[in-house]
Amino acid sequence: MAERILLRVLNGETVFPPPIWMMRQAGRYLPEYRETRKKAGSFIDLCYDPELAVEVTLQPIRRFGFDASILFSDILVVPHALGRDLRFEEGAGPLMTPMREKDIDALDASRFHEHLQPVYETVRRLRQELPQETALIGFCGAPWTVATYMIAGRGTPDQAPAKLFGYRNPDLFSRLLDTIAAVSADYLIRQIDEGADAVQIFDSWAGVLDEESFERWCIRPVAEIVNRVRKKHPNVPIVGFPRGAGSFYGRYRDATGVTALALDWTVSLEEARRLQTQGPVQGNLDPLRLVAGGKALSDGVEAILSGLGNGPLIFNLGHGITPETPIEHVEAMIRQVRGSSR
Ligand code: CP3
Repeated sequence: MAERILLRVLNGETVFPPPIWMMRQAGRYLPEYRETRKKAGSFIDLCYDPELAVEVTLQPIRRFGFDASILFSDILVVPHALGRDLRFEEGAGPLMTPMREKDIDALDASRFHEHLQPVYETVRRLRQELPQETALIGFCGAPWTVATYMIAGRGTPDQAPAKLFGYRNPDLFSRLLDTIAAVSADYLIRQIDEGADAVQIFDSWAGVLDEESFERWCIRPVAEIVNRVRKKHPNVPIVGFPRGAGSFYGRYRDATGVTALALDWTVSLEEARRLQTQGPVQGNLDPLRLVAGGKALSDGVEAILSGLGNGPLIFNLGHGITPETPIEHVEAMIRQVRGSSR
């Protein structure tokens, strides 16, 4: 079998030049994505249409030959599969009916896998259609980040609605996180059953939590997911992305047991090197350097390659690529990474 270099790095090997992929690599910066999305009707229809979801997942692989592809879906299909409503509005992002206290014990997991059948079908077809050397990454949202949308009903600048809900109703909020953790673990297990080589857990809003809530709302539920997935699939690598976790990154890795850490761009290279002595790291270019291009981009790429290239590194952005990114800048970044030597 052709080697998947992403998996070698996730196994702890140092590979240089490092494997590269981008968070949100299938998305609006690509004209072919915008085209397919128009055909699908809405973003959510695209997520549940295996043929079109496979198509948009493959688009960045065809165009750029990344070392990994990430399943095209969204973290919010999980609450959707628990019976919560979900819409995406142009410019407004995701919209849901905000959850009230009484709604938490009424979440209904009885049709969870049935609802997500199209996603499993997408994973199955992807593993057949992807080049042998391209790793397939499955994913879910971390319970805290998913809960912020369920409670507020939308994206918020500071996640205050979910934090206040959790501070005021600690037991109820823990039950919500436990429920999300349990179904998310099953969801990842099914993605792996269908052919995902690795999985990533996105905790985009981990950075707003204080020490105690980070422990309870970020670490604990993610550790629960990792334990459940490992029982079924002990050797499948799990990447954790507690975005903005700052000084808690090290503890997050130790306490959750994730295989690798995805780092946002606020993590210094010195700290990243320290974390890298304990296991692989992924990241961490500021996506706005990719928008700017030129020297801002090449300096940023070079700093990561020279700072982290001596250990297990997966080159990536520190968060998702933004829609206004010029495609030529993505090409320049890939050329620089692949053309680098030590
Ligand atoms: O990375 C990939 O290419 C795989 C697909 C993927 C999407 N969302 C597609 C998407 C993944 C892994 C996600 C994860 C996701 N979704 C997260 C965690 C990662 C992160 O970016 O922080 C979060 C918080 C969400 C929730 C979500 N979905 C928001 C807040 C938005 C609106 C923001 C925006 O960019 O418009 C989405 C929509 C979304 N998810 C788009 C894509 C390609 C854009 C929708 C469109 O085509 O109009």
